[in-house]
Amino acid sequence: MVIFLNGSYVSNDATISYNDRGIQFGDGIYEVVRVYHGELFTATEHFERLVRSAAEIAIETEYTTQDYIDICKQLIAKNNIDNGTVYIQVTRGDAPRNHAYPIDVKPNVLLYTNTSERPMQDMQQGIKAITAEDFRWLRCDIKSLNLLGNIMNKQKAVTAGAKEAIQIRNGIVTEGASSNVFIVKEGKIITHPANNFILNGITRRVIKEIADAESIPFEEVTFDEKALKDADEVFISSTSLEVMPVVEIDGENVGQGQVGPVTKLLQSKFDEQIITNQA
Ligand code: PDD
Repeated sequence: MVIFLNGSYVSNDATISYNDRGIQFGDGIYEVVRVYHGELFTATEHFERLVRSAAEIAIETEYTTQDYIDICKQLIAKNNIDNGTVYIQVTRGDAPRNHAYPIDVKPNVLLYTNTSERPMQDMQQGIKAITAEDFRWLRCDIKSLNLLGNIMNKQKAVTAGAKEAIQIRNGIVTEGASSNVFIVKEGKIITHPANNFILNGITRRVIKEIADAESIPFEEVTFDEKALKDADEVFISSTSLEVMPVVEIDGENVGQGQVGPVTKLLQSKFDEQIITNQA
C-alpha cells in the first residue's frame, strides 16, 4: 500500500520520528473521509474542518483544501480503493520534548487509505448502545488526536456487548464516542447544538440538509438522559456509520426496539446523497 508522508508517496513501512509531537503529546488533528465507488464523499467539508481544527491549535499546514483532495485522489488511484476511507493526520512536527509550541517546526502530514464496506446489516437492524459519563476536555469541536476519553468510553460499550457509548455531561447528552447523537420525538429530530461540547459532524450537516429538504423539524437544542430514553427513535451518525439506528440503550428498547420511520427516511435520502455529493 502507498501512503502520503510529508510531500511524497511512499511505501507503508515509512516511519515517523520519535520526536513527532503527535507521538509525544497527541499534538495534532485528523480527519476521516469516506470513499464510495472510488469517489470522495463531502471532501471539501472535511478539509475545511481539518484546516479549522489546525488553526484552532495554531498549526499551519502548507496544503489547501484542494491540495488535500488531489492527494486523496492520487492515493485512491494508487491503492485501487473502491469502498473505504482516507485517514488524514497533521501533527505540529518534530521537536525535542517540551510542552510549549516549538518555533520553526514543520508539520508532519500523513494520509493513508483503508478498504471498508458500508455497515449494511447494522443499518438495517440497528445497534445497541450504552450511556457513559462524558469526561473529555472542553474543546470537543477540535478533531484532536487526543482521543483517550473517547476510546475509554468506546471500550466500555464494547465490553458491555454494545457498539457505541452515548456520552452524558452534567445530565446532558452530548455525542457518541465516535459519532453524533440524535433523538426523534413526535416527528422532530433533536440534537446537541454544534458548540465546544461536540464535534460538528459532516454527516450531521448532511442529515440537517436532508431534514430541511424533507420539512422534518430539526432542533439543535440540548436534551437530557430521560429524553434520550423516552425518545421514539434514536440514531447516531458518522462518516463510517452514516445514519445508524440505535434500538437498545442500557439494555432497554428504544421505542418498540425497531428501526423507526424517520430514521429509515433519512437513510434512504442519505443513499441518494452518496450518488450526488461526490468530489
Ligand atoms: N469520528 N463525534 C465524534 C467524537 C467523532 O469522532 C465523529 C467521527 C463524529 C462524526 O463526525 P463525521 O460525521 O464528520 O464523521 C462525531 C470519525 C469517523 C473517527 O474518529 O473515526
